Amino acid sequence: MDTLKISRRGFLKLSAATASAGAVPPLVAKAAAPAAPRPPVTATVTLHVNGKPQTLTLDTRTTLLDALREHMHLTGTKKGCDHGQCGACTVIVDGRRINSCLSLAVMHEGARVTTIEGLGTPRALHPMQAAFVRHDGYQCGYCTPGQICSAVAVLDEIRDDIPSHVSGDLGVHATPSPLEIRERMSGNICRCGAYSNIVEAIAEVAGSKA
Ligand code: FES
Ligand code: FES
Repeated sequence: MDTLKISRRGFLKLSAATASAGAVPPLVAKAAAPAAPRPPVTATVTLHVNGKPQTLTLDTRTTLLDALREHMHLTGTKKGCDHGQCGACTVIVDGRRINSCLSLAVMHEGARVTTIEGLGTPRALHPMQAAFVRHDGYQCGYCTPGQICSAVAVLDEIRDDIPSHVSGDLGVHATPSPLEIRERMSGNICRCGAYSNIVEAIAEVAGSKA
């Protein structure tokens, strides 16, 4: 009987060739061509900012904060967290304060927007601005525009008998007590810790004692 003689090296070569012949060719995924970016959806919106109409065509994802700062160049309103957690971006829209970083500009067609630039001027400060200066209600000043816009709206809320979490009796006219002021201003964070002076400033404008 003939015996097939094969060296070890030859055996290995043969095995490799056999294995590769029988192997399923790897699936080579054809790389999908990257999709062309879709152009942003835009809309035209008119806002009445500090008494002046402003018509802008914006990417519909633009926040009110970015519309004010980047498109109208009203940089008094500050971007702190950009997540609704610090209050630095507070502005007054139709008489109520909002975090402008959490609100899309296109949601406010026709609205009246008041920013810190619309409250007073360096020569004619709003009473709340003057009180903040008198009471040293700031250090770095980054939170201050939001604090002042919020404080102005807080006094309106109290005048309009809108209750807060600490209002004891809904049937009684709310007073701008330090407790009420602290509670209502709790969404405005001050990293410098000027809180006690801020409360004193607001209480002075409200006519109460802090
Ligand atoms: Fe809007 Fe902080 S920047 S809440
Ligand atoms: Fe600096 Fe408030 S004054 S964060």
